[in-house]
Amino acid sequence: MTIIVTGGAGFIGGNFVLDWLRQSDEKIVNVDKLTYAGNLQTLESVAGNPNYRFVQADIGDRAAIDALLAEEKPRAVLNFAAESHVDRSIHGPGDFIQTNVVGTFNLLESVRAYWSALEEPARSDFRFLHVSTDEVYGTLSAEDPPFTEENTYEPNSPYSASKAASDHLVRAWHHTYGLPVLTTNCSNNYGPYHFPEKLIPLVIANARAGKPLPIYGDGQQVRDWLYVTDHCSAIRRVLESGKLGETYNVGGWNEKANLEVVHTICAILDELQPRADGEPYTKQITFVKDRPGHDRRYAIDARKLERELGWKPAETFESGIRKTVQWYLDNTEWVDNVMSGNYRDWLKKQYTA
Ligand code: NAD
Ligand code: TYD
Repeated sequence: MTIIVTGGAGFIGGNFVLDWLRQSDEKIVNVDKLTYAGNLQTLESVAGNPNYRFVQADIGDRAAIDALLAEEKPRAVLNFAAESHVDRSIHGPGDFIQTNVVGTFNLLESVRAYWSALEEPARSDFRFLHVSTDEVYGTLSAEDPPFTEENTYEPNSPYSASKAASDHLVRAWHHTYGLPVLTTNCSNNYGPYHFPEKLIPLVIANARAGKPLPIYGDGQQVRDWLYVTDHCSAIRRVLESGKLGETYNVGGWNEKANLEVVHTICAILDELQPRADGEPYTKQITFVKDRPGHDRRYAIDARKLERELGWKPAETFESGIRKTVQWYLDNTEWVDNVMSGNYRDWLKKQYTA
């Protein structure tokens, strides 16, 4: 048996591939376009594993995806591939529409053609799992209850609007064509192999480099942080046991204001790798202009996933953030290669030797 993941050279997809190969004997094929966010160095340790295959392709390339599905005959396709950074979506929304909306549409069409031609029982057993975000629900005030699966979609950024559009396509392909789909809407992830353009890895990298730690606006925006391997375990659980056509919210019950997150990282760094001058890392905190349309608060009610599929996160924020800071201190080469752009040469080095 085989599963295909898209976007497996990114942060969450990469962690998913590594976890999968640790826990399963089933082959996993990783289809990734290798945009700036794709980093094969993350997958260096599994490059020679016979149960792992990497294919460089765009999810929107019908011919390439059709051929891959015919060749690999997967029992499931998991769609992690996306443009994922809100700030980039504000500066240039075009790539977000192209990959997240048009790309998902093309992928759904490839998968539909493949699935329609399957014989039983492979046809009934097949799954398309779409990985999405809590940002599709919009923003909460301090008093609002966390997002449930019943909340209306009210996306506010080009990123969240493009993800919302992809979720709607996935839903429609189930209702109209019967495609056996599952969707997960997860809160903010953090952990190893996170590209240092997002808050947590950026703050760790800048702190080490003696650079400012930029806080947008007043730093009181709230996110619900989930350690990435908990997200991976939730996806595996939904893939195994999720009800077709259903959506599942995934979250860590860890609501934190950005400023609190940054203070926590600084305190851990003060302990694990104090600044040479003995001053606290909080000295590097700098308040900068707010993000346009910045959502104030996200929070996930993950009780459906717990009640129906028995999933709960294993990490608390305190345990997960400590592991994460330690990982970045132990893996400076990975971070430095991203910062210097050297990771872009990895494909050449790895596959043309
Ligand atoms: P990421 O930006 O780190 O990785 C995205 C990966 O997709 C990269 O490897 C990139 O090369 C690849 N990709 C981009 N466009 C592609 C295309 N057209 N064809 C094939 N591959 C392409 O993103 P991430 O943080 O790992 O997020 C993965 C998924 O999880 C996304 O769908 C995102 O919306 C969702 N999500 C992320 C978070 C989070 O906190 N990071 C939270 C909830 C949901
Ligand atoms: P980010 O990691 O970009 O995730 P998202 O926007 O998808 O939630 O940002 C997390 C929060 O941190 C968000 O409220 C924006 C804020 N932020 C900063 O204050 N400074 C920064 O340099 C970055 C990248 C984000």
